[in-house]
Amino acid sequence: MSHIRGRFQKAADKSVAEYTASIPFDWRLYPYDIAGSIAHARMLAKQGIISEKEAETITGGLASIRDEIEQGKFQFKPELEDIHMNIEARLIEKVGEVGGKLHTARSRNDQVALDLRLLAKEAISKALLKLREFQQAVVGLAEANKGVVMPGYTHLQPAQPVLLAHHLLAYFEMLQRDADRFSDCLKRTDVMPLGSGALAGVAYNIDREFLARELGFSQLSQNSIDAVSDRDFVVEYEAAASLCLMHLSRLAEEIILWSSAEFNFIELDDAYATGSSIMPQKKNPDVAELVRGKTGRVYGKLIALLTTMKGLPLAYNRDMQEDKEGFFDTVDTLLSTLGVFTGMIKTLRVKAENTGQAVEQGYILATDLADYLVKKGEPFRTAHDIVGRLVSYAMEKGKSFNDLSLAEYKGFSPLFGEDVYSITVESSIVARDVIGGTAPMQVERALDNAWKKIGDFKDGK
Ligand code: ARG
Repeated sequence: MSHIRGRFQKAADKSVAEYTASIPFDWRLYPYDIAGSIAHARMLAKQGIISEKEAETITGGLASIRDEIEQGKFQFKPELEDIHMNIEARLIEKVGEVGGKLHTARSRNDQVALDLRLLAKEAISKALLKLREFQQAVVGLAEANKGVVMPGYTHLQPAQPVLLAHHLLAYFEMLQRDADRFSDCLKRTDVMPLGSGALAGVAYNIDREFLARELGFSQLSQNSIDAVSDRDFVVEYEAAASLCLMHLSRLAEEIILWSSAEFNFIELDDAYATGSSIMPQKKNPDVAELVRGKTGRVYGKLIALLTTMKGLPLAYNRDMQEDKEGFFDTVDTLLSTLGVFTGMIKTLRVKAENTGQAVEQGYILATDLADYLVKKGEPFRTAHDIVGRLVSYAMEKGKSFNDLSLAEYKGFSPLFGEDVYSITVESSIVARDVIGGTAPMQVERALDNAWKKIGDFKDGK
């Protein structure tokens, strides 16, 4: 039987009750719903809308319902549709008719908006914390491998030598922007919607500022219709999570590549890898693969919510109940991904011998040879052309740059001299001494700046 009686002569059909119920997933709003209701009851008493004694009965009842839920004793009823009505019905059951006064000057529309904002605020704080821990792991790994060189890639072809630390610090920067996006989205989430009622505001002398203070909000919503009908803060969270996971997924992809037999740049800790049920030799990077895999699912939730919202007339529409599953799933996916990925980064081992060997291959110093000619007066375009021909010649002879004689070099340009042999991976890296470049001094500074931004905690120190 439905909780809402009044004009209805029959209860909703069982299939309708099941189809429209949100309790299977919105039960997890209970701590926010109860906190919101306690603040609301206190406010109603403070304003003389209900008596102090009534408020005490109500808040006491709500607190004991919270205990029931936490102890797994609460019976969620699908016919009561959602968490709001489940709690309210239980309250009335426990404290009697006075429980029915709680919903004075309130609607489920502003109530659910409040609950979601409270959950979102907490989710953002947790994401920020976990992002920071992840950054600490990444910067820690960079610092622990400060001297390690590797090929930098474009098109997944060896391009120029870089420090591994420089490569890893690229992720620090991405994650820093991700954190900024979450902090920014927090500002717009931190808005208290109670008092909006169903859509038009409420016809009681309520104190919205009191509610905001009690519930820890810094702002009040300024339009009741907007407050109950928009879910842009959820979209923003999902968008920020999507971007963050896009970054994590790229690093996951690199970890998958690097741990392959072909690259062999890193070794994952046994605790962060899995075996094959059939091929005993295998050590699979499943965690990284699932980071990459789960990213798609988070994008899906973002598009789903944007699509749900785009055609809705103001104000509340039941379609908006569809905001929750995707949101909760995104919160869980982001937090668990950050947690497990942090552990994987902290425990992986870099194989510096192999990255060092890889960087010696594939004419990776070609740009440096061109730069060498430019410094001797050759225009860059022709220098590029000369070195291009030199590479093709060396490939044909099966020689590396170092194997070429000075006479062979001079065959391509008279500007080549003995000092061409001083071009090495190290000199190439040292030469890129610009702000944001891979030169050791610059990377050292970038590491310092990174630690300043993410706190003193230094991994492995
Ligand atoms: N279960 C609903 C939701 O999640 C709560 C708000 C219901 N409001 C209403 N007018 N039916 O959106």
